[in-house]
Amino acid sequence: MRWFNLLKRRHRDQRYQPVVLVTGCSSGIGLALARLLWKLPQYRVVITLRSHSLGKLSDAGLTNNERFWIQQLDVTSAEDRRRLINEITQRWGKVDILVNNAGISYRAVVEHMDSATELLQLETNYLGPMGLIRLVLPGMRLTGRGKIINVSSVSGMLAMPTMASYSASKYALEGASEALWYEMRPLGINVSLIQPGFVRSNSFRNVVYSSQSALSQAMGGPYSEYYRHMSPFIEKMMQRSRTTPETVAHTILRVIRTENPPLRVPASIDASVFYYIRRWVPRRLLHPFLFWCLPGSRTWGLLYSQKRG
Ligand SMILES: NC(=O)c1ccc[n+]([C@@H]2O[C@H](COP(=O)([O-])OP(=O)(O)OC[C@H]3O[C@@H](n4cnc5c(N)ncnc54)[C@H](OP(=O)(O)O)[C@@H]3O)[C@@H](O)[C@H]2O)c1
Repeated sequence: MRWFNLLKRRHRDQRYQPVVLVTGCSSGIGLALARLLWKLPQYRVVITLRSHSLGKLSDAGLTNNERFWIQQLDVTSAEDRRRLINEITQRWGKVDILVNNAGISYRAVVEHMDSATELLQLETNYLGPMGLIRLVLPGMRLTGRGKIINVSSVSGMLAMPTMASYSASKYALEGASEALWYEMRPLGINVSLIQPGFVRSNSFRNVVYSSQSALSQAMGGPYSEYYRHMSPFIEKMMQRSRTTPETVAHTILRVIRTENPPLRVPASIDASVFYYIRRWVPRRLLHPFLFWCLPGSRTWGLLYSQKRG
């Protein structure tokens, strides 16, 4: 009887075709991962886009078929999230692997953000992904296996000026994922954070400006020097990076395929370097040093500064 059960389980495992759900697949890392999964028949795949981006996929040659499903999802909408998971459950039973990739990045100093923009940043990069996780966990718990893969960033270990809200969203994702790792360990569910640094792509074009940060760049003001230096600096670092969306997508695929992947997975050389800098250099030295390295930082705000001494 025991042998029969073992054989039955083995047979079922051979037919096991995990359902992978990836969010934010209209461009960048999400699109690169979608292209990889398109070629892998061992997975059933759901990729999601916002409705205004659905047209972008026809150029990429990705279409619906019996194991590849393109769905609409705005991660900030609780109704969208519920509808999507219900539809996947009806069609394929459950989600086995969730890749929370969708994200936005505000370029604004703290003073130029407001409650609405802060909330949108957090809803997209943190609250939405957590909402999706809550919807897929019950199915994973029932079968005692599953993977949650959250795309974080180097900004989740080191913050940069003009990107405070983005960093806050990634730090939040890092903290919650770490707690979830402990919670899920006894239940057979893996939790991983993918940490890309600068990625060579056009994603800097998708950066979002709050109305005040856009105004400050156009009209000047106490923070205009910060933007004048930081925006081209980040753009340049991205263009010079050896890491592409395809490289990061391969890293995510490796995590999908690994039996017990680690919690944190650096996805670029700079991410590994920053990891060790963060670990070994005392913060008291690290922050002044990084400030000194930032372009033009010694001139930032000088004309407007009332600093004494
Ligand atoms: N590029 C980098 O240098 C870098 C570095 C570190 C970490 N990351 C992280 O990697 C992930 C992917 O970034 P990427 O570089 O590939 O950026 P990207 O090319 O701008 O792609 C972002 C994706 O997220 C989607 N998205 C944005 N808001 C959404 C929402 N409310 N609901 C659903 N989808 C939404 C976008 O879809 P739409 O077409 O609908 O806007 C797009 O498909 C993000 O989490 C980002 O924080 C990127």
